[in-house]
Amino acid sequence: MTSTRRIVLARRPHGEPTDDDLVVETAELDPPAPGEALLETLYLSLDPYMRGRMSAAKSYAKPVPIGGTMVGATVSRVLECPGGEFEPGDLVLGYGGWQTRSVESVAQLTGLDANMGAASLPVSTALGVLGMPGFTAYAGLTEIGRPRPGETVVVAAATGPVGSAVGQIAQARGARAVGIAGGPEKVAYLRELGFAAAVDHRADDFVEQLEAATPDGIDVYFENVGGHVFDAVFPRLNTYARIPVCGLVAGYNDTEAPAGPDRLPRFMGLVLSRSITVRGFIQTEFADRLTDDFRRDMTAWVADGTVKFKEDVVEGFDHTRDAFRGLLTGRNFGKLVVKVVD
Ligand SMILES: NC(=O)c1ccc[n+]([C@@H]2O[C@H](COP(=O)([O-])OP(=O)(O)OC[C@H]3O[C@@H](n4cnc5c(N)ncnc54)[C@H](OP(=O)(O)O)[C@@H]3O)[C@@H](O)[C@H]2O)c1
Repeated sequence: MTSTRRIVLARRPHGEPTDDDLVVETAELDPPAPGEALLETLYLSLDPYMRGRMSAAKSYAKPVPIGGTMVGATVSRVLECPGGEFEPGDLVLGYGGWQTRSVESVAQLTGLDANMGAASLPVSTALGVLGMPGFTAYAGLTEIGRPRPGETVVVAAATGPVGSAVGQIAQARGARAVGIAGGPEKVAYLRELGFAAAVDHRADDFVEQLEAATPDGIDVYFENVGGHVFDAVFPRLNTYARIPVCGLVAGYNDTEAPAGPDRLPRFMGLVLSRSITVRGFIQTEFADRLTDDFRRDMTAWVADGTVKFKEDVVEGFDHTRDAFRGLLTGRNFGKLVVKVVD
């Protein structure tokens, strides 16, 4: 028997998840059976979608049951694998969740090269730029946003793993990427990444900054956040604008409808009169068709510097809950991962 420290959903949060909603406990793990592996978590990914898994509201995926371990992608080291599919010490991408050790089916695991191929990147990039968030940016932009050279692409949460890849891929395709982020430090980083313009949604003059940054209007709005950012963006959408709706993180902790007038009639009026396409997506929809293309393109772009990435590595499993709360309020700066074990 081996033990794991894990974070379980003790009750469904109302608003921001508290330490009484997400409880740390120690549990014994059964030894791995043939077809399974015992893993030690090295990096645990924290992603905004996890807030949805804490809620019982109907969604595209099942909620975590009360008493269940919080789900999530992990990079782990194999400790034992009775069937021999992996050797002890091998690194794998899995879905171990918020815990220090896990027993997983080998069918769910992908072997990782410690150097991430020839690129010599940190293995944690399998959770970020070379993993699910990078793929989300790639699929949503190329399949739905479809920016043409010279068009203006706006994305918020632009220093995060999805937004930063969206903006850089758009620039590489000859479009003009405008990034929206919270605070001057994040805005300065977007300029370093080569975004054509960057604006601060926390600034008093955010709406004026956005107007100045989008003199020709907006052709693609890659929707990551909703809220006051969307309110500022939608009047600036051009005829035939495309909106890949990827996420609405500004509202994930909301407990009631937003204040103010109902924006829907005005927005639908614009959708009609400007022939705007609004298309939601969950990245898994594109996995079968685009994963190979994504791996080829993104690996090359990261290697040649077309796409740069930033990780926010929080050291220690005990900081997981606080780090997750920060993700929903913009305290993270780059792809948020928890380093559980060296
Ligand atoms: N559809 C899919 O398949 C799919 C897959 C992956 C991710 N997503 C979605 O993609 C979005 C970005 O994910 P990510 O992993 O790249 O996250 P992220 O950018 O690392 O983190 C979320 C960021 O959202 C911003 N934010 C939070 N509250 C905000 C508010 N009220 N107004 C404006 N911005 C706010 C913060 O950045 P600032 O400090 O810059 O405001 C925060 O850092 C999320 O909505 C996520 O749910 C969707």
